[in-house]
Amino acid sequence: MNLLKAIQSNITCRYYKDDLVQDEVLARVFDAARYAPNGGNRQPVRFIAVRNEVTKKTLRDLYLPYWRDYTKGIDLGEIKVNSVRRMLEDANYFADNLHTVPVIVVVCAKLQDVHPTDHELGRLSIVGGASVYPAVQNMLLAARMEGLGTALTTLLCHEEPKVKELLGIPEDISTAAHVTLGYPQKDFPKKLVRRPLSESVFSERYGDSLSGIES
Ligand SMILES: Cc1cc2nc3c(=O)[nH]c(=O)nc-3n(C[C@H](O)[C@H](O)[C@H](O)COP(=O)(O)O)c2cc1C
Repeated sequence: MNLLKAIQSNITCRYYKDDLVQDEVLARVFDAARYAPNGGNRQPVRFIAVRNEVTKKTLRDLYLPYWRDYTKGIDLGEIKVNSVRRMLEDANYFADNLHTVPVIVVVCAKLQDVHPTDHELGRLSIVGGASVYPAVQNMLLAARMEGLGTALTTLLCHEEPKVKELLGIPEDISTAAHVTLGYPQKDFPKKLVRRPLSESVFSERYGDSLSGIES
């Protein structure tokens, strides 16, 4: 499959078939992840593929209260999301049925091996994630190439201590995301809906348009 097509069609998958994801398929997906760029090539990312029913149910039970709070925030207008109605319906189903997804990948990171360069700026650090999320995106794209659907979530990171205890994650390892993975019930779209390029790409100075990009 053409890489650009994989990028453009990799929708957040919230409905999965029960079909087993074979070990060798999972191995190819994780293999792609490790080629991602990362600071100093210290490779801080670790993955745990969770397929056990009981464990997935525990993760679902930990996720649900945060999801309900999040949707309450959307209802009250405190949290802003686009495409609300379709997204919420699908995401509610996803939350309630998280334990039925074939694989939940718990993405972990060894924070000693990331090098944030913005943590002294008096605002939320974002650079720490730069050695972690490229590997996650590689994983999502490799899964797409295998015909697998994925959904990247981070709400469960609120419950990091409980997730660490549940999965035996060592003290010095943190959780960075939870990715659901399995064969999708629905076809992939041709192209995802995103804001126009002209709203996020500039030339020379912030806000100045780059020629060749239509508004
Ligand atoms: C950091 C992050 C956290 C997310 N958390 C959730 C989540 O908790 N539940 C969910 O259903 N989708 C979650 N998503 C998926 C987004 O809702 C989705 O990427 C966005 O709505 C765009 O949808 P699309 O990629 O299907 O077009 C998350 C995505 C990201 C990048």
